Amino acid sequence: MTNILFIGDIFASTGRGMVARHLPEIVALENIHLTIANGENAAGGFGITPQLADEIFGFGVQVITTGNHAWDKRECYEYYDRQQRLLRPANYPAELPGSGLVKVKASNGVECAVMNLQGRSHMVPIDCPFKKADTLIASLAPHTKVRFVDFHAELTSEKVAMGWHLDGRVSAMVGTHTHVPTADTRILPKGTAYQTDAGMTGPYSGVIGVDKDIVLQKFLKQIPVKMQAAQNNPELHGVIVEVDEATGKATAIRRVEVIGS
Ligand code: FE2
Repeated sequence: MTNILFIGDIFASTGRGMVARHLPEIVALENIHLTIANGENAAGGFGITPQLADEIFGFGVQVITTGNHAWDKRECYEYYDRQQRLLRPANYPAELPGSGLVKVKASNGVECAVMNLQGRSHMVPIDCPFKKADTLIASLAPHTKVRFVDFHAELTSEKVAMGWHLDGRVSAMVGTHTHVPTADTRILPKGTAYQTDAGMTGPYSGVIGVDKDIVLQKFLKQIPVKMQAAQNNPELHGVIVEVDEATGKATAIRRVEVIGS
């Protein structure tokens, strides 16, 4: 079996600290062979820099996925082409740097494909993630059976639909972006492990990572505000998927969470 840990959106220094402090123990206790994390909020909540990507790789994360914040930090653009284990959603325009697919070897020697897609409902109108998923899957060799998808999307319905679209063709699809973990963890009928959203790894004292007083000003007054990361109540959220590498089908999925410090 190949055990994959997926860590939900790492938000600012609070999120990075949680990964730094807790990842080694989770990997050892759960016999994790591959760790993937969404890092699009690593830089103060908005984007990721080459330095922060390297910091997260240094914690033991093998692949970093992103989403709509992939493009916040200009200094990262050329890094996407240099560091193939930092993904950006595959369905952004092809002329942008980087890739939404990477193949890596897990620590047990099993080759795994990691894919990153982004939804279009209440988000920027990029290419169809469903058709792009078909293209990515068609590009994989049949022997690359262990396949993980981070689908970064706003709507639960779009993510549930993608789960059905991918069922039986990838080992797992886990959603990101809302920063709220969902409790619909399951294995779909044809063997794809699924959870609508992994949740956030970061400060839960705010509003999906941002200082709550600032966000309340926005909602109460409807004026532009400068977002700033919240600081307190650190939590780590993610999922662990067990995959039979002989078939590519998931045999187990469950949520993992670390609350506080
Ligand atoms: Fe996002």
